[in-house]
Amino acid sequence: MNEITLDVKIAKTKIDRNIYGHFAEHLGRCIYEGIWVGEDSSIPNVRGIRKDVVSALRRIKVPVLRWPGGCFADEYHWMDGIGPRQDRPSMVNTHWGGVVENNHFGTHEFMDLCEQLDCEPYICGNVGSGTVKEMSQWVEYVTFDGKNPMADLRAANGHSDPWRLKYFGVGNENWGCGGRMTPEYYSDLYRQYGLYARNYGENKLYRIACGARNDDYHWTEVLMAKAANYMDGLALHYYTSVKRLPDGSREGSATQFDEAGWIEIISKGLFMDELVRKHGTIMDKYDPEKKVAMIVDEWGTWYAVEPGTHPRFLYQQNTMRDAIVAATTFDIFNKHCDRVRMANIAQTVNVLQAMVLTQGEKMLLTPSFHVFEMYAVHQDATMVPVDVQSERYEHAGYNVPAISASASVDADGKLNITLSNANPHKDVTVSLFVRGFKGSQVSGRVLHAEAMNAHNTFENPNVVEPKTFNGAQLNGEGIEIAMPKMSVAALAVS
Ligand code: AHR
Repeated sequence: MNEITLDVKIAKTKIDRNIYGHFAEHLGRCIYEGIWVGEDSSIPNVRGIRKDVVSALRRIKVPVLRWPGGCFADEYHWMDGIGPRQDRPSMVNTHWGGVVENNHFGTHEFMDLCEQLDCEPYICGNVGSGTVKEMSQWVEYVTFDGKNPMADLRAANGHSDPWRLKYFGVGNENWGCGGRMTPEYYSDLYRQYGLYARNYGENKLYRIACGARNDDYHWTEVLMAKAANYMDGLALHYYTSVKRLPDGSREGSATQFDEAGWIEIISKGLFMDELVRKHGTIMDKYDPEKKVAMIVDEWGTWYAVEPGTHPRFLYQQNTMRDAIVAATTFDIFNKHCDRVRMANIAQTVNVLQAMVLTQGEKMLLTPSFHVFEMYAVHQDATMVPVDVQSERYEHAGYNVPAISASASVDADGKLNITLSNANPHKDVTVSLFVRGFKGSQVSGRVLHAEAMNAHNTFENPNVVEPKTFNGAQLNGEGIEIAMPKMSVAALAVS
C-alpha cells in the first residue's frame, strides 16, 4: 500500500531556491568546451560563452553557480585569469589530468556567465595554496566600489562598476585536496581568511566554510565549536558511487549495470538523508536557531569515466537511475529545508552527474536535467511536509522505499507535488491524501523509461524526456496516482 498524506495548513518553511544550485569546475570539459568556447568559435556564443548551454540552463532556472572548484579552487590564482586573454599566463591543472589551463575563463568571464544565466555567483577562494592577501584582494577586486588599487585594476580590465557577490567559499575540501588539514587547523585558518574576505559598501558576503566529507561528524563538530560564529554556511560533500578507488576514481559504469547496480546506487543516494540529519543534529547543538546553513555544495553520482575518455576528466553518461537519485535527493533536501539552504550538483556540464553533455557543436539534455526542470517548481516555495508510507523495493540485499515524494505551495497558491517510483518492475498506485487545500484540477508530467539504463545520446537525444502525465485523478480526498515503474512525476494542483 502506498499512501502519501500532506497538510497544507502546516506548511511554513521556505525551500531556498539555491537547493537547486550548480557547480562548474575547471575540470575536463566542464568549463572549456562545455561552457567556454571563445569568441572566435564557430559554435554560437555570446562573448565566448555557448548560447545553447546557457539557454538550456536557463530552462532549469539555475539559481546559483559555484566556481572555480572543487580541488581546482585551492590551486587557482585568480590574478592569472584577468586582463587581456592573450597575456594571461598558463598553468598546469595538476589535479585534473595535468592539462594546460590557459586562464581564458576567469573572473570577468564567470561573472558574465552568471549574468547570462541570471543566477547568483558563488566563488570558492583558495586557502590550500593561496595567501590571505590573495583571497582578500579577490573580494576587493570583485566588490569594491570606489577608488583603490584593486578597483582600479578591475576598471582597467573593462569593468568599472563592482559586481555584487554574495556567496563566498573559504576553501574547498581542506581536509583533502585543499591542504590535508585537520579540522582544528582549518577552523583557525577559516577564521583568519574569512576575516580578510571583507564586506565593502553594500556588498555583504555570505561566508561558507569547508565542511565534512560524507560522515566525518568530527569535522562538523570542530568547525561548529570553533568557528560557527563567523560563518553563514557550512558545507557538506557526498557523492553516490559504487566504490571509491585509492586514486579517487570510481568503479562501475554509468550505463552498463544490472538491477543490483540500479538499487545499490539508489540506496546509497538515500544515505544523504542520514548525513543531513546527523550533521544537522551536531549543528543544532551549537546553533539551535539554525542561523548557519548546511550547504551541500557537491553532490551527485560518480562512476567510472566513459570508455576511451580521459580518466581525470570525469565524463560520464546519465540514465534513468541518475534521474531517480536526483529526485530522491531533492526530496531529502526539501524535507530538511530548515537547515539545508543551498546544494550544488556536481557538475553542470560534461562532468559527473551533468545536466547537459556536449560534443563539438552538439548538446544533449540528460535525464537529470529533466528532473531539475520538473523540480524547479519548488524553488522559493513553501515546503509542505509529507508523510510517505511506501511499499519496499528489495533486490540483491538492498531494501529501499519504492516511493519518495515532496511537496510545496508556490506564490500563486498552487500545490506542487513531485514523486518517484524506484521499482524498475512494478507500476504502483499511490493514494495521496490532501488536507487543508481544495484543488479542482490536477495536471502533470512524467519522466519514465522502459530500461533502467535508458539515456540520451547525440544520435538519439530524446529517449528520456518528460511527457504529459494522465495518471493522476482527483477524488474526494486527494489524488489517486498511477505511478509507472522507474519514473519521476511532477503534479500541479490548483
Ligand atoms: O567534483 C569533483 C571533485 O570532487 C571536486 O573537485 C572535489 O571537491 C571533490 O572531491
